[in-house]
Amino acid sequence: MLKLPLDVDQIKGFLDPAEGEALQRAALAGAALGACLEIGAYCGKSAVYIGTACQSVGAPLFSVDHHRGSEENQPGWEYHDAELWDDEAGAMDTLPFLRRTLRAAGLEETVIPIVGRSATVARAWGAPLGFLFIDGGHTMEAALGDYRGWTPHLVRGGLLAIHDVFPDPADGGRPPFEIYQRALASDLFEEVEEGASEVKVLDEGGETITSVITGPVTADVISNIEREGQRPRSLLPLLRSLCRV
Ligand SMILES: C[S@@+](CC[C@H](N)C(=O)[O-])C[C@H]1O[C@@H](n2cnc3c(N)ncnc32)[C@H](O)[C@@H]1O
Repeated sequence: MLKLPLDVDQIKGFLDPAEGEALQRAALAGAALGACLEIGAYCGKSAVYIGTACQSVGAPLFSVDHHRGSEENQPGWEYHDAELWDDEAGAMDTLPFLRRTLRAAGLEETVIPIVGRSATVARAWGAPLGFLFIDGGHTMEAALGDYRGWTPHLVRGGLLAIHDVFPDPADGGRPPFEIYQRALASDLFEEVEEGASEVKVLDEGGETITSVITGPVTADVISNIEREGQRPRSLLPLLRSLCRV
């Protein structure tokens, strides 16, 4: 693992150190293939792990968040933190905390915050991604939007990491698990085979918390077409055979 530039325990957030290290390793591999991007910055904990990897190879990390917090961060919810509340805006605001983290970590030249709704940014996005970390909203609509909006930008062989993949609903919301399953079922992704234990982070009970899967295994133009319905489905087999390498 690369040495971290600051004590990550000081940063507000929900990322376990083992998850952070797995993300760092995956980002190092993915950065060789394309840009790195995370959805869900919060106060910058994952950005420090991933950003340190990117910095070591001179690659950027784009960090997308509207900084108004997820459902569970709102007042009255389990993960609300009153320190992150902006009275004037009448809303959460984690952006100043992210900026503070990036400055303290010496990552201001590496991590590029993008303030906006994930789906809106995804629609305008053009750069090929070598590493994608999905850790945004946990409603089905948000998780599915992240999956559909961002995975078509992954290059062939690029790495996808999904946080909070809980197979048992008792452990947490299921949408991240559902998009993880969707990715595996899509035939465009496959679980990392070699050294999978290195990138699959398990909790004490053996449940997967963060999974890293590779993909797409077919040409990514197919994944765009399939997901966005730009072509009639009947053309897919033909397009698939033309694009498969
Ligand atoms: C679990 S936190 C991210 C934690 C962060 N990765 C870390 O390591 O501490 C989820 C973040 O996603 C953001 N978020 C939720 N839904 C979003 C959306 N639709 N677009 C952009 N950001 C979103 C929230 O504002 C919140 O900061």
